[in-house]
Amino acid sequence: MSVLRKIIHVVALLFVAYLMNSFALRSGIMKHPQMNKTIEQRVDSLLALMTLEEKIGQMTLFTSDWEMTGPTLRAEYKEDIRKGRVGAIFNAHTAAYTRELQRIAVEETRLKIPLIFGYDVIHGYKTIFPIPLGEAASWDLQAIEQAARIAAVEASAAGLHWTFAPMVDIARDPRWGRISEGAGEDSYLGSAIAAARVRGFQGNGFDNADAILACAKHYAAYGAAQAGRDYHTVDMSEQVLREVYLPPFKAARDAGAWTFMTAFNEWNGIPATANTRLIKDILKWEWGFPGFVVTDYTSINEMVLHGYAADDKHAAELSVNAGVDMDMQGAVYYHHLADLVKEGKVKVSRIDDAVRRILHLKFLLGLFDDPYRFCDEAREKRLIMAPEHQAAARDMARKSIVLLRNEKQTLPLSRQIKTLAVIGPLADSKQDMLGNWSASGDAKDCVTLLEGVRAKLPGQGRVLYEKGCDIENKSDRSGIAKALAVAKKADAIVVVVGEAGWMSGEAASRADIGLPGLQEELVKALVATQKPVVVVLMNGRPLAIPWVAENAPAILETWFAGTQGGHAIADVLFGDYNPSGKLPVTFPRSAGQIPLFYNAKNTGRPADPNNKYTSKYLDVPNSPQWPFGFGLSYTTFSYSDLQVDKKEFGYNDALTIRVKVTNTGAREGEETAQLYVRDLVGSVTRPVRELKGFQKVQLKPGESKVITFRLSADDLRFYNADLLFRAEPGEFDIWVGGDSNAALGTRVTLKH
Ligand code: BGC
Repeated sequence: MSVLRKIIHVVALLFVAYLMNSFALRSGIMKHPQMNKTIEQRVDSLLALMTLEEKIGQMTLFTSDWEMTGPTLRAEYKEDIRKGRVGAIFNAHTAAYTRELQRIAVEETRLKIPLIFGYDVIHGYKTIFPIPLGEAASWDLQAIEQAARIAAVEASAAGLHWTFAPMVDIARDPRWGRISEGAGEDSYLGSAIAAARVRGFQGNGFDNADAILACAKHYAAYGAAQAGRDYHTVDMSEQVLREVYLPPFKAARDAGAWTFMTAFNEWNGIPATANTRLIKDILKWEWGFPGFVVTDYTSINEMVLHGYAADDKHAAELSVNAGVDMDMQGAVYYHHLADLVKEGKVKVSRIDDAVRRILHLKFLLGLFDDPYRFCDEAREKRLIMAPEHQAAARDMARKSIVLLRNEKQTLPLSRQIKTLAVIGPLADSKQDMLGNWSASGDAKDCVTLLEGVRAKLPGQGRVLYEKGCDIENKSDRSGIAKALAVAKKADAIVVVVGEAGWMSGEAASRADIGLPGLQEELVKALVATQKPVVVVLMNGRPLAIPWVAENAPAILETWFAGTQGGHAIADVLFGDYNPSGKLPVTFPRSAGQIPLFYNAKNTGRPADPNNKYTSKYLDVPNSPQWPFGFGLSYTTFSYSDLQVDKKEFGYNDALTIRVKVTNTGAREGEETAQLYVRDLVGSVTRPVRELKGFQKVQLKPGESKVITFRLSADDLRFYNADLLFRAEPGEFDIWVGGDSNAALGTRVTLKH
């Protein structure tokens, strides 16, 4: 009897929750702040005029062939626009070309519905900023937002309405090439950055025509591809999904991201592109997402190869019914949705819901009032590559650089140096400086490291250059001897090594994440000269480079720094900018340690050097080469006087944590103070540390500042075994410091 009562109770609660949620959705309480009644009325009256085919047209997104052939669109796609069978185009840009295509939509179609133009504006449109992983190393939310703002200003001036960014996938596996497109391994930092990027792209809303729709991608858990192999299977508990992988998506939704893109991978046996739990239940229902969901490139069709759909038609049915509103390039909605509706397998109400979501955004963008709003060539000319954008790109690049090692104060280099050797296959490469997904970025516009250094050391013959070796080629050693000959004439050596730009990004997984080709041999030969050697790394992922890490006098991680990269790196090399970046991702010693991330579990047998039967390797330590949050400066910082205002706190209290940060060196510098927490006992086990806050602080030599963090019970919540998001009473360790190994700590108790 009591079991039955319990069941009735739970069912009644669920029903009330359902009623409340649908009321909230219908009444607009949960809708986006920019959702507006007049638009909804206009959407409804337009929808009433549309045929089923025209509705499906709005749910169809096709690509231009621009990337291969310049501004062209297949003739049949143009014809589709004319017939109202395609509502959005991607990879077509510039004010002139988007105007040309838009004209077809608004002058030659029955209902004159304008097109949306989308593009992968990931880290800049033409002014290219550092790759997103590099930007994340700045931990500077304002700068990151500003970089996305500038990307949107340039993209919107080039006729674009929509970017397929931010990519908010948490990635704990550096073999996965797409780690370069996100914000690294941590959900807290990743969420803050996801929100900053959405705010940057969408600006102050669409009244100003310099905002573009953001798209949080790839929903969800794409970064957990097995073995770091792109597109591979993902299998994880819903607890881990919700705790680690979903928070940045939720943050993007809360920041107002208007669109979401599904991922290529499956999650627990169901491809993300037809995953009802992910799309319908969590995104649209639980989070009340009002925008539209687009697939990734042909990811609907790929469900056949996944073994989830019998054929394309079946895939279309599964996907639309799971809540996917727009099909990117798969043409399966285009070919099959009408039949599926006629056969009663897809409801017209589902189609109407998808089309409403899409039309809403076209109205919001102001395209029905002026379809050419974003096609202003004078604005395009004025804004693209504007000088202030270059200045911001240089500043962002400097902020993203991480000083990994600096023995005997090898850096900064003196401007008085007589001769400097600049060596390495990446030292004078313009193309690689752009990194992957560089939109309309032009290698010609990039400043290489060699150019940046030459600008700092004018005068004949002061900067000597030799390539040394190729990035990949392993057979030709002749360049190494030439490099050594040049190095012998110099007072110091800067050697620039790493990956080619194309070695990270999509479909660019690597099993060996060391330096490719002969580059390590080159570095070894240069270090053997005993001269001051600075290794400058350019790469789109953490590298495992133990020899370099332990033997090179100085190491600078510069990622792919973008259009102004060479100047930015030179600013750091010569001390015009004191490096302040911190790693947003762990650097392992060996690929064999992967996945290696700071917020792992303790296990029942944590590593003990004196006990064989503990969790460790025979051949490599457990510790990383460089931990999450790590980064040096030309000055030093110390942490002291950590105080909490109370040792015990309750569910309605917040804890105030104060700590003194002192610049103990001789230069002004910026430190990122990080707050970590460990929940000692949980009803499900908790990680050994979790980031819960960070603050940047600028300090003059000898100066101290007291910084304050607040921590409440809400910050300590996690998903328990019943998937309830709760903080549990008990003891918590707290640390504050300059990286995830922070040692200064205290213990507090959360009371019932
Ligand atoms: C990528 C997406 C991208 C899309 C459109 C896909 O291959 O996975 O991130 O937005 O192409 O270019």
